[in-house]
Amino acid sequence: MKNFNATVLVAGATGRTGLWVVKRLQAHHIDYHLFVRSGAKAIELFGPEIVDKLTLGTLENPEEIEAAVSHAEAIICAVGGNVTDPASPPPSEIDRDGIIRLAKIAKEQGIKHFILVSSLAVTKPEHPLNKYGQVLTMKLEAENEVRRLFSEPGYSYTILRPGGLTDGLPLQHALIFGTGDTISTGSIRRSNVAEVAVISLSNQHAHNLTFEIIEGQESEQQSIEQFFTMIYH
Ligand SMILES: NC(=O)c1ccc[n+]([C@@H]2O[C@H](COP(=O)([O-])OP(=O)(O)OC[C@H]3O[C@@H](n4cnc5c(N)ncnc54)[C@H](OP(=O)(O)O)[C@@H]3O)[C@@H](O)[C@H]2O)c1
Repeated sequence: MKNFNATVLVAGATGRTGLWVVKRLQAHHIDYHLFVRSGAKAIELFGPEIVDKLTLGTLENPEEIEAAVSHAEAIICAVGGNVTDPASPPPSEIDRDGIIRLAKIAKEQGIKHFILVSSLAVTKPEHPLNKYGQVLTMKLEAENEVRRLFSEPGYSYTILRPGGLTDGLPLQHALIFGTGDTISTGSIRRSNVAEVAVISLSNQHAHNLTFEIIEGQESEQQSIEQFFTMIYH
């Protein structure tokens, strides 16, 4: 059943989480458009029929962002810089400035819902991951801007803070949701993060909320909607 009746722009659609966001949007019959750096990579992942749903570009380029957001009413952003590759731009350019640029242009162009994949522990400056260009702090600064822009009436944000990302099929585990960045450790499949992002488009519990997500015990799920009721505003 289709629970969300608007087109969703997936930023970072050719990434390992973005790929699953696209698959879960397809599973829920929700319309989408993809913002990707490589058309060839997108066609390899999604097939040639995807070509009409692509805008090529990067988060460094405002005109390319404008072109991409013009196709949609909501965004799921699963972009992340490659922190371990010294040849890649630093987290300050991608995970902070790039995401902030996307959020500002999206708001100006009338995007109503912004869903951001961030990370567990962004509020912990002493966390070891911060030795890579302060990546967690950069993500927190991007989160802050998304919260500021999309908490106005008529708009909404959802910020997902997953634990360590793993691969595998979705809906094979119970999920644990938390708020306040108090979950210190845990992991979650990218496919489950994608499912949480897609359900957050329509589930009112997720609107204007920042929450952490990790996997609990192995247990097949028909739906993950019930886990959203664990979060209280
Ligand atoms: N690894 C973990 O354990 C972990 C834990 C918590 C949170 N996270 C965060 O979760 C998110 C998703 O992680 P992932 O493992 O799915 O990442 P990933 O596979 O590395 O995908 C990152 C995506 O970002 C895109 N991208 C990078 N720089 C860009 C730019 N300047 N403009 C536009 N797109 C750009 C990449 O494009 P290409 O496809 O063209 O390369 C790719 O599609 C990231 O923000 C990551 O930091 C990761």
